Amino acid sequence: MQRVEAELARLIDEVDYDEVTRLFNKLSGGKRLRAKLILKIAKDVENAPLLAAIVELIHAASLLHDDVIDDAATRRGVASVNATDGSKTAVMLGDILYSKAFTELVEFDKEVAQTIAASVTALSKGEMMDVKMAEEFNSDEAAYLDMLYLKTATLIEAAAKAAALLAGKDAVSHALYGRNLGLSFQIIDDILDITADEATLGKPAMNDFVEGKCTLPYIYLYESLDTDEKERLKAAHGKKVDSTENAWIKSKMDEHKTIERSFGLAKKLSNEAQNAMREDAELIGILETMIQRSY
Ligand code: FPP
Ligand code: MG
Repeated sequence: MQRVEAELARLIDEVDYDEVTRLFNKLSGGKRLRAKLILKIAKDVENAPLLAAIVELIHAASLLHDDVIDDAATRRGVASVNATDGSKTAVMLGDILYSKAFTELVEFDKEVAQTIAASVTALSKGEMMDVKMAEEFNSDEAAYLDMLYLKTATLIEAAAKAAALLAGKDAVSHALYGRNLGLSFQIIDDILDITADEATLGKPAMNDFVEGKCTLPYIYLYESLDTDEKERLKAAHGKKVDSTENAWIKSKMDEHKTIERSFGLAKKLSNEAQNAMREDAELIGILETMIQRSY
């Protein structure tokens, strides 16, 4: 991972603007899941750290823009760039990271470059769908999972596939692994929004529903409620509600086991990822660490 951090520092240095270096250094790197995947899949490939850095730059850019779109005050436990330096700066920094990533990406083989580039269109589409869906209460599980695939899983899928292409490994099975890992990862993120506290999350707890996002535990809850309760849940959607209402939602989730049901799907997807990658102990290890985050 040190080589990825060194590549990131080099690319930011090449932008040659102190303000960009200052802002980039303030960002928290996060788990670097996508970079880790690339390094594990394309272990001995010389330019794997560069590809990993490119994907992390794209991911960082997408989060900068996402925090503007979501009006988020924090990211990974630290104040977001839009909160400290304003939305305009956050958008412009995202543009610089994103375009720098693409300048580097075009030097790779066409199939590798196309794989990553196409995933960015997909994740941007996913973000737009997410925002649109949040305007109204959504109880459609399939529509939600389609959006989730685009918004979160496509870049992870593309990272795994591109790394396999670089390393001369099987692209299809690695892509499948990345896709299912990405979906499972995001479902666990959605669960943690409900079960974890603010200190662990680095952002307010139970915030998804406040932002209008009907994640799986809410979709499953809606299915299980009676007509009056359905109305009560809908009335709480998309706004900050008092602690009584949050406690009611949580108790109903307990009663109908909607967290367990959501976790069941995450586990199923993770098992599918594992089956795609049966002989690779390290990639299976990543899956296990991810699933354990939910405890
Ligand atoms: C986080 O979702 C958002 C994403 C994973 C993708 C955002 C994508 C864009 C803004 C498209 C623009 C892309 C580029 C490269 C400029 P979330 O809000 O559900 O999660 P959070 O709780 O981490 O904010
Ligand atoms: Mg967000």
